[in-house]
Amino acid sequence: MTESLTVRDNRTGVEYDIPITDGTIRAADLGKIKASEDNPGLAVYDPGFVNTASCRSSVTYIDGDKGVLEYRGYPIEQLAEKSSFLEVSYLLVHGALPTKEEYDAWVHEITFHTFVHENIKEFMQGFRYDAHPMGMLMASVGAMSTFYPDAANISDPDNRRLQIIRLIAKMPTLGAWAFRHAQGKPYVYPDNDLSYTGNFLSMLFKMSESKYASDDRIEKALDTLFILHADHEQNASANAVRSVGSTQVDPYSSVAAGVGALFGPLHGGANEAVLRMLRRIGKVENIPAFIEGVKAGNERLMGFGHRVYKNYDPRATIIKQQALNVFEVTGTNPLLNIAMELEKIALEDEYFVKRKLYPNVDFYSGLIYEALEFPPEMFTVLFAIGRTPGWLSQWLELVQDKEQKIARPKQIYTGERGLTFVPRDVRWA
Ligand code: CMC
Repeated sequence: MTESLTVRDNRTGVEYDIPITDGTIRAADLGKIKASEDNPGLAVYDPGFVNTASCRSSVTYIDGDKGVLEYRGYPIEQLAEKSSFLEVSYLLVHGALPTKEEYDAWVHEITFHTFVHENIKEFMQGFRYDAHPMGMLMASVGAMSTFYPDAANISDPDNRRLQIIRLIAKMPTLGAWAFRHAQGKPYVYPDNDLSYTGNFLSMLFKMSESKYASDDRIEKALDTLFILHADHEQNASANAVRSVGSTQVDPYSSVAAGVGALFGPLHGGANEAVLRMLRRIGKVENIPAFIEGVKAGNERLMGFGHRVYKNYDPRATIIKQQALNVFEVTGTNPLLNIAMELEKIALEDEYFVKRKLYPNVDFYSGLIYEALEFPPEMFTVLFAIGRTPGWLSQWLELVQDKEQKIARPKQIYTGERGLTFVPRDVRWA
């Protein structure tokens, strides 16, 4: 039996049967509901797309109540433990795990596209000494469309694949150079003998040594963080990529829009706020008073709560373990004790239990980044590098989806109508 919704329009008394598919109704079906023939049909008003599905997607599945996150059907816990960021990138982009030959070819291709045109370097060097690295990243990703005009040919699958490889390969180069720029240090060229994450660490931290060797545990931790951030279905930046991509522009312009969306403090910036909060609390003895302040509504416990997860954010559990691994190498961050105690108290407290507030991905990630000596401005750049395969998988799905159209929402117009224009010389006379 087909499921449907019967709606009675009390303005006209007419009843409509609207089919329900996959738990949704089509907004266009509501458009058939009209008060009179010359009236526009009924529309939905949904600022922030809180209850609107914008696409069909087979990339990422989230069950927020159960704390489940899967990429292409594989649980995030298994991918974080047993896979690598490049394998997960392959999985996201292609929809299936690679064979050995496919994996080797993929790693080879990504590794040999890590260099960027020298003019991109000069372009980046033109930024002021204190430029925010996310601004530099957004601009340089956008600028790449001018270096690869062939990317405009989005209907050719081979061409799309080449741009995807270029973007995943070059993001660490751009991100590392944005980091070096703020420090006044020379940019380090990619070292294609190293792994994806090892090369990134080399471009970030290498000085005069002929070869940079990173600690395996640090490499693994960063690789895992990239996996955890690789996609999160229709979040604000994926939506930005899709919205801009729906105009059929090249993928560099679309991904630059994603970087811009991620730059915002409501999206990519919460881990920085967690660090500030932990510093302010200062010592474990101050936690009870801080929690009382949160419960009194004076402020929020940053790194807790999520629009989708009403359970433990599965990424938070994995990040906590990685934090412990990193601290074995770097020495403990004294803020860790405050974070762990804060988590323990909050998870037992009725205020947080009742509201289903659990640690989210940002609760521990800032602690790791700080231990790795990243300044807070770089936290979101790391997020962007990890999210790139997700953005590209969403983009790829969009450009192949026959149901998609240019993203062009409706509005409820609240302004004036039909005014008569009076020229300046008359108005100001
Ligand atoms: N601390 C204290 N109370 C909270 C918190 C918190 N972190 N988060 C939500 N609440 C309370 C809120 O006051 C409200 O209580 P009441 O019903 O008494 O008014 C209730 O919980 C529901 O909150 P909401 O604001 O309606 O929930 P939301 O889904 O709109 O907000 C959120 C989600 C993530 C913006 C919010 O939980 C928050 O501000 N958290 C802190 C910031 C943070 O950690 N952000 C990172 C999110 S994960 C990053 C990502 O995946 O992109």
